Amino acid sequence: MTALPATSRRAALVTGASRGIGRAIALRLAADGFDVAIGYAGNAARAEETVAAARAAGANAIAVQGDVAQAPDVARLFDAAQQAFGRLDVVVNSAGIMTLKPVAPASVDAFDQTIATNLRGAFLVLGEAAARLGQGGRIIALSTSVIARAFPGYGPYIAAKAGVEGLVRVLANELRGRGITVNAVAPGPVATDLFFEGKSEEQVAQLAKLAPLERLGTPDDIAAAVAFLAGPDGAWVNAQVLRANGGYA
Ligand SMILES: NC(=O)c1ccc[n+]([C@@H]2O[C@H](COP(=O)([O-])OP(=O)(O)OC[C@H]3O[C@@H](n4cnc5c(N)ncnc54)[C@H](OP(=O)(O)O)[C@@H]3O)[C@@H](O)[C@H]2O)c1
Repeated sequence: MTALPATSRRAALVTGASRGIGRAIALRLAADGFDVAIGYAGNAARAEETVAAARAAGANAIAVQGDVAQAPDVARLFDAAQQAFGRLDVVVNSAGIMTLKPVAPASVDAFDQTIATNLRGAFLVLGEAAARLGQGGRIIALSTSVIARAFPGYGPYIAAKAGVEGLVRVLANELRGRGITVNAVAPGPVATDLFFEGKSEEQVAQLAKLAPLERLGTPDDIAAAVAFLAGPDGAWVNAQVLRANGGYA
């Protein structure tokens, strides 16, 4: 096998990058000079569309299907990225789901599903990132600003994301001496499928007004915060949760 050509491009892996915030992150990193591996669960057409957009921005890009809650799938995603690009510098875990259910016995299946995707998934992705990144590596997990609001119905989602914020701080300590930062970005409401699903126009308008900046976030707003943590200006930020939310909480 011929060796990969030397390149000054860096490489990033973004889970949940077929749609929404993950897609915007992958495309922003592509524009910033990263090759990108696009993780997704089932939406192959949207993932391929993100790949095409990343290539149009000048990046090498691949799409890899897998469930972040399954260890072999996550390992395969990382293998594919390292094989395709010959290196891995930045890992962003954006894959996630949100199901609104009260804290009640009847909600336990939804709770288990949310914990599996959002917390077990983060544990597996952060763990693989820790095993594979070298000096200068950056690990970024998506949390949520709704933790501070504690709205009724958000129990499973908030429980999972509070766990993610805990993992981020622990992993930053576990990586002492390796020159790798670990941070979370915690958006407020952002205009994506995950946010709009099941909400009336009135509820959307109400939530959009909560932040003093009085609008929903865009996926690009969040990608900008991630790009800061992934880029040279974010080098000294470690073990932090960056609440990118227009002042919502
Ligand atoms: N939107 C908001 O208001 C908001 C606010 C705060 C935090 N967040 C967080 O930001 C992240 C991105 O959310 P979003 O709004 O961009 O969501 P989204 O538009 O619904 O996109 C979700 C992405 O995650 C992937 N995914 C879902 N389950 C998966 C699994 N088990 N394994 C692998 N990939 C999976 C989906 O893949 P497929 O396309 O293949 O289904 C898709 O790419 C999430 O962690 C979310 O909790 C969002």
